[in-house]
Amino acid sequence: MVAQSNDPVVSLTDVRKTYKVGEVDVPAVKGVTFSIPRRRFSVIVGPSGSGKTTLLNLIGCLDKPTSGRVIVAGQDLATLPDNAVSDFRAQKVGFIFQNFSLSRCSRHTKTLNTPCSCWA
Ligand SMILES: Nc1ncnc2c1ncn2[C@@H]1O[C@H](COP(=O)(O)OP(=O)(O)OP(=O)(O)O)[C@@H](O)[C@H]1O
Ligand SMILES: [Mg+2]
Repeated sequence: MVAQSNDPVVSLTDVRKTYKVGEVDVPAVKGVTFSIPRRRFSVIVGPSGSGKTTLLNLIGCLDKPTSGRVIVAGQDLATLPDNAVSDFRAQKVGFIFQNFSLSRCSRHTKTLNTPCSCWA
């Protein structure tokens, strides 16, 4: 699917993510629906444990939802095989982790200017 210029760059519909810890279900994201228009700087805020990192992992193609639809840059991620998701992430998403995970040889200033960016 080709992204149209007026499509949101990120679109989530009733997205849920439940981690399995042994026999226990840990619901981290419980039915989230929102979209982010293009060229908009957006911030996700909430108390510790409310699911911000889980949500960013889903938007950043690092994890898959238990249910619901995640569309990034016009691409429904559920329709892509894992290797295609990796290619898509490499081309479309910039991500800085909470613990930075920066390497000595990368250009930190460029990375730090785009905490989580999606290109369409
Ligand atoms: N890999 C995991 N396995 C099991 N439970 C997890 C995992 N990652 C997160 N959780 C749980 O999911 C819920 C949401 O966690 P998450 O890390 O997304 O929250 P957060 O809003 O980013 O918190 P913080 O502000 O502390 O970074 C919490 O209850 C957390 O314990
Ligand atoms: Mg977090």
